Amino acid sequence: MFTTAPAPNFTQSRLPHDLFAAINALKQELNAVILAHYYQDSEIQDIADFIGDSLELARKAANTSANVIVFAGVHFMAETAKILNPDKLVLLPDLNAGCSLADSCPPEAFAAFKADRPGHLVISYINCTAAIKAMSDIICTSSNAVKIVNQIPENQPIIFGPDRNLGRYVMEQTGRNMEIWQGACIVHENFSEKKIVQLKIENPEAEIIAHPECEPPVLRHANYIGSTTALLKYSQASSSQAFIVATEPGIIHQMQKQAPQKRFIPAPPNNNSCACNECPHMRLNTLEKLYLAMKNQTPEITMPLNIQLAALQPIQRMLEMS
Ligand code: 13P
Ligand code: SF4
Repeated sequence: MFTTAPAPNFTQSRLPHDLFAAINALKQELNAVILAHYYQDSEIQDIADFIGDSLELARKAANTSANVIVFAGVHFMAETAKILNPDKLVLLPDLNAGCSLADSCPPEAFAAFKADRPGHLVISYINCTAAIKAMSDIICTSSNAVKIVNQIPENQPIIFGPDRNLGRYVMEQTGRNMEIWQGACIVHENFSEKKIVQLKIENPEAEIIAHPECEPPVLRHANYIGSTTALLKYSQASSSQAFIVATEPGIIHQMQKQAPQKRFIPAPPNNNSCACNECPHMRLNTLEKLYLAMKNQTPEITMPLNIQLAALQPIQRMLEMS
């Protein structure tokens, strides 16, 4: 768990008229790099130096020569960047940008789960806190989970956490039995199978593409399953002209930019309150907060040194194995 931070007070801080220009100037001044996940608002994606899925962002963070990393994503992603760069300043525009999936795996309970299963290798999805990473043997993301599990000797029992849907998907793809922590993402578990099927009936030419964090009833209908980057690449490479996209709709900004002639339809959620399934954590970051974070060089990502050191090895193993 991380400390919640007070929200920036915009009334007390004068914002420049041209935020894009001001952010670009700060980038030069600080020798900063802006890394953004596909689930960020489109204007943040447009000012970022690099946009990617969790694995690509971790790779970029591992190799950057910048002095300051501005992470436009959620807390566990910025934490991963800090673990890989202990001597650099890592900024997160809104420190309250957490993750329901990371929250669904409290460290004490996970330690007990692990203690009950001696001899198991712990593979943790990167969507977890640094404390969980510190208890893990290997980290994975949605783009390399199958590849990593396939490299583990067959007689080695495995604990997989915290996402039950990715865990189940990896078990199906690898034929491996694993002990799965029962965590989940509120965004990906909220897609409505019924409404997706209805959309497909209305748009028979559309392919359904889905992130493996979705539940099995949704994945069953998918023509293609993959990480955000994999979904983006598939939507460009496929000859189909329309796609029903079952992941956070922020990715549609890049899909549409790279293929303006194609149609991308966000998969609808179960609840009727809104038409989309935006991640409430990711969307806490705004262009204004990003500017203020760079100007004030805060909020900064920090963590206890013992956790930072223990979490590094499983992340490095992932980078070597993927
Ligand atoms: P990827 O970036 O691996 O596609 O994962 C998506 C996600 O849920 C990030 O929070
Ligand atoms: Fe976490 Fe889900 Fe948001 Fe990704 S989409 S950051 S897994 S809550």
